[in-house]
Amino acid sequence: MYVLHKKKPIIEGLERFRQQQNISFHVPGHKHGELSHLPQAFKDVMRYDVTELSGLDDLHYPEEMILEAENLLADTYGATKSFFLVGGSTVGNLAMIYATCNKDDTIIVQRNAHKSIFHAIELVGAKPIFVSPLWDERTMSATHVTYRDLKEAVENYSEAKAVVLTYPTYYGMTSNEIQQQIAYCHEKGIPVLVDEAHGAHFNACTLFQPSALTLGADVVVQSAHKTLPAMTMASFMHVKSELIEADKIHHYLRMLQSSSPSYLLLASLDDARYYVQTYMESDGAYIIEKKNQWVDALRAIGSLEVIEVDDPLKVLLRVNGYSGFQLQEALEAKHVYGELADANQVLFVLPLLKQGHTYPFAEIRVRIKEAITTLLNTAKTDSITASQTAYHFVPITEPIYTFNEVASLKKEWLPYMRTMGRISANMIIPYPPGIPLLVPGERITVAKLSQLEELLAAGATFQGNHRLAEKKIQVIK
Ligand SMILES: Cc1ncc(COP(=O)(O)O)c(C=O)c1O
Repeated sequence: MYVLHKKKPIIEGLERFRQQQNISFHVPGHKHGELSHLPQAFKDVMRYDVTELSGLDDLHYPEEMILEAENLLADTYGATKSFFLVGGSTVGNLAMIYATCNKDDTIIVQRNAHKSIFHAIELVGAKPIFVSPLWDERTMSATHVTYRDLKEAVENYSEAKAVVLTYPTYYGMTSNEIQQQIAYCHEKGIPVLVDEAHGAHFNACTLFQPSALTLGADVVVQSAHKTLPAMTMASFMHVKSELIEADKIHHYLRMLQSSSPSYLLLASLDDARYYVQTYMESDGAYIIEKKNQWVDALRAIGSLEVIEVDDPLKVLLRVNGYSGFQLQEALEAKHVYGELADANQVLFVLPLLKQGHTYPFAEIRVRIKEAITTLLNTAKTDSITASQTAYHFVPITEPIYTFNEVASLKKEWLPYMRTMGRISANMIIPYPPGIPLLVPGERITVAKLSQLEELLAAGATFQGNHRLAEKKIQVIK
């Protein structure tokens, strides 16, 4: 596959620096952890928490070890330029939209995008056109946008400066139309920006789904911390484009990322890149086999339904008659923590094991079985089928007002059941997964309200400016 680069430039550079036993008269103020009251194991890690000192390079203008590590990253993923992100995929999503859109520019967006995409559109002042995803009955989740709908959006809004897709979804669903979609957008001269937050492992071996970068996307953002062994926030950004200059993205990253990026995160990214680069086909086959055995064993537990998705690292668990939130509570009581729950199910993210790694799958199965026994002794939930009509009801929508226009309009709080046909003033975000149900400027439909009601009934948590405890949301007056 790749030429194996055994180097880990940032990790090696930091280790060399630590071994020199330098005296700190610089920031950070914890002075290699010496002034800290944290536990010793934590203080030991702080030895590596340094800053842009001589020989340690500078993330914003890399010339030495950081540049070398970013070049290895680009080589591993097949990008022309790759960046380390210390502010999560969030900062990558912001930068890619800043780099392609100005105020009042049109941008075509897959509606089930992460809130960071909507925040970027708001900050830039762009005009979003939403393309609704399909609803998948099997995984009870919104998946991808169809080729036909995206083509229609591009035809109708040919002035669009970018198309933003989410691939894979939080639930691990991909799309077999994305390559064709990208090719069509390129024919029209429109760059495709892909939020691949959940697919940083796709490039590790051919047994996984292909990365959107391989399929021709111009910019791809990946949360290395989600599926690779990287620390929280550590993320990657890749550029391979004839339509967008990597320098322009770098320009915005310099503005949006801290001028004191964490070297712990950078080291962790260097390590995650190395993990992907040294990941073998046989490693992929190993985790898939382990997962299949585990899924078979789980399916033997009465009442438990296990749903597999496109991404082999994700599975969905359901128990008929119980909400995902109830199942989550029962699992957590047995110290098994999944990634998220929704009205119907719990989502698990499996570890990207290499051959020889072990994981306590058998023990976890025992705990899951116990959790389900407890769950079955509790009362069932009445209504737990998430509304399917909320998605793809209208394939292409243009919000009535832009985010900026909403900001200057008069608003009022109303019981949400009385807001049908009104225009939302705020973002209402079931969290996780962090995909807004309502966005400012969008008309509130019956489908959206019934989905909101179902989520509330099932015990979902919401972010955004709302008063859902009083059953109220804010609309344009
Ligand atoms: C699809 C998607 N995009 C972007 C993000 C933001 O990623 P990060 O937490 O790395 O900033 C998330 C986070 O959950 C996500 O699910």
